[in-house]
Amino acid sequence: MKINLLKKVGVLIMLLGPCSSLNLSAHDGATGVVKQRMEAMSDMGDAMKAMASMVKGKQAFEPALFIQSGETIAEHSDMMPKLFPAGSMVGKSEALPTIWQQWDDFVSLGYRTKTDAEKLVKMARDGTELRPLTKQFVKLASDCKACHKDYRKKK
Ligand code: HEC
Repeated sequence: MKINLLKKVGVLIMLLGPCSSLNLSAHDGATGVVKQRMEAMSDMGDAMKAMASMVKGKQAFEPALFIQSGETIAEHSDMMPKLFPAGSMVGKSEALPTIWQQWDDFVSLGYRTKTDAEKLVKMARDGTELRPLTKQFVKLASDCKACHKDYRKKK
């Protein structure tokens, strides 16, 4: 079970792609709201990575880091509808037109991400152990993945 969970985490993190703030190339030339949302997404990617390294035992378990990372994700995913104004697929954007064809679904995936991040924050605040936190983390990662699958261009 533990191994399965860890495998899952590894796979999910891989699916998030090369997404650290080191990977600035995708942001080059992006402007305005597209740049803003790429930065917000990158911040969420970094937050997921920070939690992943605790989950994988590469870094000591620190509840404060779960709280901080979860808050970053909750804030950014809350802004999502504003960060995707109609038709904003300019330049290097990986946004797919289906976003605006299935807007309600897109918005609800953002909302789900937000509520799962908030739940993770609350669990960490309540002193929850790493194992149940890991489960919630995996749930959150699958929210990211669910939206990318349908609404983000494959590399
Ligand atoms: C509601 C849909 C949705 C959710 C939820 C979502 N994303 Fe994204 N994400 C996108 C779309 C669409 C793009 C492409 C945006 C663009 O290039 O204009 C993207 C792009 C990204 C990128 C690449 C940014 C760049 O530098 O170009 C990263 C990293 C990322 N998302 C991480 C995450 C993480 C981590 C989560 C979960 C905590 C998440 N996303 C949740 C839709 C979503």
